[in-house]
Amino acid sequence: MTIWDELKDHRDANSGLRILDLFHDDHRAESFSRRVDGLLFDFSKTALDAGAMSLLLELARSRAVEGRRDAMFSGARINETEGRAVLHTALRAPGGVVELDGQDVMPGVLETRSRMTDFANAVRHGGIAGQGGTYTDVVNIGIGGSDLGPAMATLALAPWADGPRVHYVSNIDGAHIHDTLAGLDPARTLVIVASKTFTTVETMTNARTARDWMAGAVADPATQFAAVSSATDKTAAFGIPPERVFGFEDWVGGRYSLWGPIGLGVMLAVGPEPFGQMLAGGHAMDTHFREADLADNLPVLLALVGIWHNQICGHATRAVLPYDQRLARLPAYLQQLEMESNGKRVAMDGTNLEHDSGPIVWGEPGTNGQHAFYQLIHQGTRIVPCEFLLAAEGHEPDLAHQHRLLAANCLAQSEALMRGRSLKEARALMAGKGLSGDELERQARHRVFPGNRPSTTLLYKRLTPFALGQIIALYEHRVFVEGVILGINSFDQWGVELGKELALALEPVLSGENDGADKDASTRQLARAVRTSSL
Ligand code: F6P
Repeated sequence: MTIWDELKDHRDANSGLRILDLFHDDHRAESFSRRVDGLLFDFSKTALDAGAMSLLLELARSRAVEGRRDAMFSGARINETEGRAVLHTALRAPGGVVELDGQDVMPGVLETRSRMTDFANAVRHGGIAGQGGTYTDVVNIGIGGSDLGPAMATLALAPWADGPRVHYVSNIDGAHIHDTLAGLDPARTLVIVASKTFTTVETMTNARTARDWMAGAVADPATQFAAVSSATDKTAAFGIPPERVFGFEDWVGGRYSLWGPIGLGVMLAVGPEPFGQMLAGGHAMDTHFREADLADNLPVLLALVGIWHNQICGHATRAVLPYDQRLARLPAYLQQLEMESNGKRVAMDGTNLEHDSGPIVWGEPGTNGQHAFYQLIHQGTRIVPCEFLLAAEGHEPDLAHQHRLLAANCLAQSEALMRGRSLKEARALMAGKGLSGDELERQARHRVFPGNRPSTTLLYKRLTPFALGQIIALYEHRVFVEGVILGINSFDQWGVELGKELALALEPVLSGENDGADKDASTRQLARAVRTSSL
């Protein structure tokens, strides 16, 4: 019998138990929570009990999570399908030695960080200016990992924003760049082209559009461009001077790249010091991940809760619900992190996965989501494990009463999900409203909440740059641990290739250059309708 089978047996044996009943143990809230460096992770409102936890920890050990973790930090080429090391953690290290093939990568990391810092300071204080004066706006053009992380972090750190306004353009849809540039002064706008490969169609197309826009108003548009890329030959061909190019190595995956030059937009918005605090938060989480026992290790615990809900209990989705408006882009960021990393059907050795791949991640900030999709979470037929995030304190002292209401809503949701409302309670409610007989019965049934729905809560003191760094690194390592347990290579993304290839082939069909005879009838019909706009 495998540990997976034992876990499923344990799930079945406990299927009659309600989460609320587990709280007959007076110590459950503390036993199923961990506090690390200002974070409190509470996973007590799940069906996990001591037996399940010990099996999950055995599973983690049997999958050599600790060994794989150490291999990652030591520069081993654990991204085996691309033959690459995975060292994004070096980007947030304060110094020391991080070796790759016997070479210390840290001098290069620190040099790039210091060039970024000088550049950001000069832009922020006017030492580097646009042709019309000090930069008022920065437009970061990138997509996927070259957009989601910095866009999420820039919004998260809004209270620290004291530099130029930073905008993010990602979509190939011309509406995105059109609406972003509208109203900006081209002579006082800096454009960052952020693309690891400098080949991504969306980014390169938007970059050319921005250059054309600028050319109408500025003598030499290239002087108002910077690039974040590993492909220095291509940045040079685009006309961006080498001193404005910030590179990173192939051992940093796109979705893990926020910590280095891809974070330039964040640094420009908030300044190098808060950016450095974000790195420090990420590094503190690295240290915790490397040193804490598995049973007290936050990334490992998040991963085990995830494996329990997704692979053992079969709940396919995971809702990420930040009760923090400034984390509005966190669900989108985590979608890429989790789904591009662990959305795979074969294991590292090419054999079919024995278990489901990673979960479908989605979410919205609270309380907005409450007025949209929480109905299904509370009363739908499917169970959606929820992950709440909440700061103990807001940033607006004058609006402390609003923060209290926000927090009350967050705690109320996890309580309601667990507790539910029984038919008996619903009947009493309806009787209290004066109903009786069949009508009371009918109305009461609509007001039953099954409850027993699992959730976790991650509480942090305030959304500071340090806390943000901790939270992002926590999720990165969680995804890694889940991938190790499932046997997945979390660092490649072959699944995005096919659509890109087909899109390239379809563009000439839409322009009429190619008749698309090799396409299926549906695709031909749609292409014809788009080309001729015959609708
Ligand atoms: O969508 C696939 C992907 O390769 C992501 O992994 C990456 O973050 C994104 O495209 C952007 O790539 P690049 O930075 O090379 O433009």
